[in-house]
Amino acid sequence: MDSVSFGSDNHSGIHPQVLAAILNANEGFCPAYGDDPLTIKVLEQIKELFGGNCDAWFVITGTGANILCLQAIMHSYNAIFCAQSAHINTDECGAVQKFTQGRLKPIETPDGKLTPKLIAPHLLGNRDQHHSQAKIISISQSTEFGTLYTLQELQELADFAHQNDMFLHIDGARLANAAAALKCSLKEMTKDIAADIVSFGGTKNGLLCGEAIISFRPDLTSAMRFYRKQASQLLSKMRFISAQYQAYLTDDLYLKNAMAANAMAKLLAERLQKIPEITITQEVAVNSLFVVLPRQIIEPLQQKYHFYTWNEEKNEVRLMCSFNTTETHIESFIQDLKALLVVKSPHR
Ligand SMILES: Cc1ncc(COP(=O)(O)O)c(C=O)c1O
Repeated sequence: MDSVSFGSDNHSGIHPQVLAAILNANEGFCPAYGDDPLTIKVLEQIKELFGGNCDAWFVITGTGANILCLQAIMHSYNAIFCAQSAHINTDECGAVQKFTQGRLKPIETPDGKLTPKLIAPHLLGNRDQHHSQAKIISISQSTEFGTLYTLQELQELADFAHQNDMFLHIDGARLANAAAALKCSLKEMTKDIAADIVSFGGTKNGLLCGEAIISFRPDLTSAMRFYRKQASQLLSKMRFISAQYQAYLTDDLYLKNAMAANAMAKLLAERLQKIPEITITQEVAVNSLFVVLPRQIIEPLQQKYHFYTWNEEKNEVRLMCSFNTTETHIESFIQDLKALLVVKSPHR
């Protein structure tokens, strides 16, 4: 095992209850490709959790969830608005363009959040036949900057999308962290604000792998299972994703894991705020922090703890907590950071 990592919530392992569920599902034989009773049951549970009148599918990766959500509701002549920092824009190797054949229109934001005001100027002249036709607003909840849309902001974006003949897609790789922070249900954050299609991530929050797609427009997404197969996102031994989600939903494990990760990020922020040399650059709403550190301590600290430099020019790093980050991890990180500050600044 590596040293303690604040690199990503992907660096955590599998939650013991999820691992137990995988082992439990490892009995005998059952139909493949999602035709097994467990998959059918757990997908029903997910639909219920999201308020019903929706459709749901399991996929293997977050990138897969994004491309399928988008592909299912657009044509190749459509455009997708997203934040410049959106995972679909920065970290999916052009997968959205490849699978949808549409155009991404990234918009600069200060905090990873789109607003109707930021999008509106890009709609001017949009219905011209020479232009890709704007069809989707894609947002991440929580965002890649660890910020959150309030329910009101989500509602405004959905209303704006629909008034302008567009759909609202939510990349919910960290939807559980958002629900935990907003103290609202998954339904309130998606169906109730009239989102059209969303993902509900598991991998970053205690699963080995697995994401769920939920469509509130089943009229538009009847081809999803074909697109899923084409995208290699149809796991043959589907029962093992379903078993993980069953554990994830049992006694709200998804919320408990997300609350634990969020709480550790809050604790880390509290500790860092007391150190004058450190600046936190984004609101700490969920499980990640963006922090400017004195340049000279970044590398030595990275020798002991894994974390990424986000913006080299600004000496800004990203610190991310997971469901299994502990107070001990935080305290030892802070102690080591403080020790480096003393060593590197002998005149203090
Ligand atoms: C917001 C967001 N969406 C989607 C993904 C994609 O997940 P995966 O790496 O499983 O494809 C990530 C992964 O970091 C992410 O942060």
